[in-house]
Amino acid sequence: MASPPTILVFDSGLGGLTVLREVVRGRPDAHYVYVADDAFFPYGHHSEDQIIARVVPLIGELIAAHAPDLVVIACNTASTLVMSHLRSEYQVPFVGTVPAIKPACANSKTKRVSVLGTKGTVKREYTKALIRDFAQGCEVTLVGSPELASLAEAALSGIEVSDRDISAEVAPCFVGDGEADLARTDTVVLACTHYPLLMERLVRLAPWPVDWIDPAPAIARRVADLLRPPGSEVDHAGAEMIFTSRRPHTLSGALMPFFGGRVPA
Ligand code: DGL
Repeated sequence: MASPPTILVFDSGLGGLTVLREVVRGRPDAHYVYVADDAFFPYGHHSEDQIIARVVPLIGELIAAHAPDLVVIACNTASTLVMSHLRSEYQVPFVGTVPAIKPACANSKTKRVSVLGTKGTVKREYTKALIRDFAQGCEVTLVGSPELASLAEAALSGIEVSDRDISAEVAPCFVGDGEADLARTDTVVLACTHYPLLMERLVRLAPWPVDWIDPAPAIARRVADLLRPPGSEVDHAGAEMIFTSRRPHTLSGALMPFFGGRVPA
């Protein structure tokens, strides 16, 4: 039997788990290594040069240590900067996570779309180019949230996060006349992998209903396309959770659903 592929999923923290969850659904046979660069979290507060200088050599070290068959950069703040550097430095196939502006604009009926990301992601030239190329006549509002990734991280770690704090970060996404269905935002791009961790609360706290676009299923399809198909005797391989701060994780119960029910070592 061919050995299962190793997939390394990387983020600044716990947000990439929302991508991991979908990738695991598509390839339950793979061995997973999830790396949270919590020693440098949050990426949204660092400059472009600092992120490139941090992530490119770190991914090289992780490739040397784990020999992955594929690496997913499950972080918009990093992917909008580092993908070309990674592809030119290393031979492994990479899949990145960038704001899903094209499908969001294709989905919008009111032609009002908001992109909710970190302050870094919404400033990127990469993001602005996606809007230039794919807005398809939509008015696109960029919303850089200073704290939502940290709030999502806290909530997953069991710390109480108030509705008021979440609402304050999300409020600028809702543009237009709230009473008039056809003159207000109807689609919000979740351009940070942390935000789907708060999905139920985002839906509940929204001033009016919108479609929230989470790119994780599309990323998982891309991963499945790049790997050789699973062997006939599919079995669940192992999973590892690594924090760059070297703190031991104490979150097994909260993490298991993202690893397809496995307890990560
Ligand atoms: N999860 C990351 C993203 O998708 C960002 C969180 C951070 O600021 O580190 O952009």
